[in-house]
Amino acid sequence: MMIVFKKVVVILLFSIEFSCSSMIDLTQKWIPNAGWEVNCLWTLVENDELQSVRLYNNGQQFFIYRPEINGTSKSEYYRTRAWDVRCRETSEKGATGACVVSAELIKPPQDFNFTCEVSGERPTFRIETKSILVSASVPPSDAHISVATMDSESGRVTLNCTSSGLPSPTLIWTIGAQRVPPDFSSSAWNYTTKVYDAWSAVSYSWADAGLPATCTPETHRRGRTTPAAPAQYSGARGGAGERDLVALVLAVAALL
Ligand SMILES: *[C@@H]1O[C@H](CO)[C@@H](O)[C@H](O)[C@H]1NC(C)=O
Ligand SMILES: *[C@@H]1O[C@H](CO)[C@@H](O)[C@H](O)[C@H]1NC(C)=O
Ligand SMILES: *[C@@H]1O[C@H](CO)[C@@H](O)[C@H](O)[C@H]1NC(C)=O
Ligand SMILES: *[C@@H]1O[C@H](CO)[C@@H](O)[C@H](O)[C@H]1NC(C)=O
Repeated sequence: MMIVFKKVVVILLFSIEFSCSSMIDLTQKWIPNAGWEVNCLWTLVENDELQSVRLYNNGQQFFIYRPEINGTSKSEYYRTRAWDVRCRETSEKGATGACVVSAELIKPPQDFNFTCEVSGERPTFRIETKSILVSASVPPSDAHISVATMDSESGRVTLNCTSSGLPSPTLIWTIGAQRVPPDFSSSAWNYTTKVYDAWSAVSYSWADAGLPATCTPETHRRGRTTPAAPAQYSGARGGAGERDLVALVLAVAALL
């Protein structure tokens, strides 16, 4: 009972807060093959008008939009950083509006602190500010294993696992339950996809051991590990294709 009561009070406090101050919603997202997009959406307090929107990169102002001078929208392209900035009002007198910053990645990126500051009109010039740390990280893609070489006599295979991400994914191999180091691994920045392509190869004698090999991608950043779906190689026999076929045969048999 007490808990329910507390919740109601908290919700009430929030509603009061929102109804008497302006609001900024600042978000970042990763756009594949492009880079980051930072969105700053604002809602002014009732009856206020937009005086200006200022954007800061690591505390340094680099953009200002003033409807009084610039009209209902302003766009600017920053060649050195390859940033495209577009701000516009989405309702009368800028009561609501949005700035979109598209950051194309021309080289491996670094984190930056992005700030959006929205100011209302005179006499109060009510200012609302929000910052976000735009993080240079993209979750790794699911692992993909290909057979690089296979000696059908000895049953020795060389498997190649790939994954892409930012920072460069680490590819972890296990054979059976045993973690094993790769024989070779490498990674390179891909200028098209704006992420790192990583690959890692192991050789083992599948015929001897008969054990499946699993490759799991992980990115490590600021003490956080982000894994992706692993891929598994279970030898020339008992591979995924064969298992699916068995399942299909069983399903058909069940129908008959
Ligand atoms: C980002 O910049 C703002 C304004 O300069 C500052 O108040 C804030 O502490 C900074 N945040 C981080 C995470 O550096
Ligand atoms: C917008 O306003 C700024 C000053 O705040 C001015 O330098 C700039 O030329 C204006 N741009 C447009 C497109 O009106
Ligand atoms: C693994 O695949 C990557 C990407 O396709 C390739 O560049 C690399 O040479 C391959 N490595 C081996 C050992 O086959
Ligand atoms: C970059 O990634 C794309 C898509 O995965 C791939 O087709 C291309 O070969 C890669 N470029 C380089 C230089 O590896």
